[in-house]
Amino acid sequence: MRWFSLALALVAPSQAALRFGCSTISIQRLDPLVEPGHIPSAHVHQIVGGNAFNATMSSGQNNNIAETATCTSCFFSEDFSNYWTAVMYFKARNGTYKRVPIVANSQLEGSTDGMTIYYTQKDFNSNGNAKITAFPPGFRMTVGSPATTSKSGVVKGLSYTCLQTINTRGSETQEFPTKACPAGIMAIHHFPACWDGKNLDSPDHQSHMYSTTKTGTFVEAGPCPASHPVRMPQLAYETIWDTTKFNDKSQWPADGSQPFVWSMGDRTGYATHGDYVFGWKGDSLQRAMDSSCMFQACGNGKPLLSQNAAAINKCKIKPTVNEDTEGWLTELPSAM
Ligand SMILES: *[C@@H]1O[C@H](CO)[C@@H](O)[C@H](O)[C@H]1NC(C)=O
Ligand SMILES: *[C@@H]1O[C@H](CO)[C@@H](O)[C@H](O)[C@H]1NC(C)=O
Repeated sequence: MRWFSLALALVAPSQAALRFGCSTISIQRLDPLVEPGHIPSAHVHQIVGGNAFNATMSSGQNNNIAETATCTSCFFSEDFSNYWTAVMYFKARNGTYKRVPIVANSQLEGSTDGMTIYYTQKDFNSNGNAKITAFPPGFRMTVGSPATTSKSGVVKGLSYTCLQTINTRGSETQEFPTKACPAGIMAIHHFPACWDGKNLDSPDHQSHMYSTTKTGTFVEAGPCPASHPVRMPQLAYETIWDTTKFNDKSQWPADGSQPFVWSMGDRTGYATHGDYVFGWKGDSLQRAMDSSCMFQACGNGKPLLSQNAAAINKCKIKPTVNEDTEGWLTELPSAM
């Protein structure tokens, strides 16, 4: 029997990788993780996922957003997590700002914006014989920092791709592309995947996690260290910013520098960051990571429940902060 179960283990490794679209539930100045209770928060975010997102989302297992949310804008209908990043603005030569639209995941019909989310194993091809442990209820983390001002300060896994076509991958940079990109700019956020096994969060929202990410290409550098021994799913966001309507060089700065700026005022791109609050129902994420399904084929009950584009696009939240983030603005919305 022993050789038989070994053979089974070899033919049925758990290699699941999730890749799915989520549409935007809100664009506003809220940040329940870094600035809980601040209405408004310092800068504008684009948020996808469950509708339990709010100015305050206390941590701890008693606040299980998988139980309090009633809809999600993500493909997998058991995923009530929230995922958010800053938003990108174009600064025209006359000094005014316009928010850059987002290109939705191509599988989300009828959706005008949103992100593509990944939960992979050690890399796309194997789990490195390590068990991948799903995040527990109440878990949250951030990657990157709005305070980063130098290239050397950019953590591994955060990058940009200047899209030649919508399918361009690779050629990642730590700074905003310096030339006009024919199909937009993809912002990539790879989160750390090694957990200390104890803390759902930490004061800086980062030190309970450790990154072995080498690049932004889903290749892990090595095993998790003893301080952070638990390997969790490799979470990553891709956001495609449709910069194409701002490619007219006569509207770029007169010195020829690139015109895009994050909502916190960063023109270099180094201050890119992402935020995550876990909210998968029950053991659904663990079941997915223990299987060998790939991408959206993990839906339709094999093993995850999924929903159609109409249901995805219907899930929105009412803004808490009422201000214009979308018109031609004389300054970036920010809490001075
Ligand atoms: C957000 O929190 C406020 C109280 O701070 C509450 O009144 C409101 O219902 C909450 N919204 C959601 C969507 O839970
Ligand atoms: C600034 O430039 C943009 C882009 O050309 C234009 O749409 C906008 O109306 C201008 N705003 C002002 C106040 O001139």
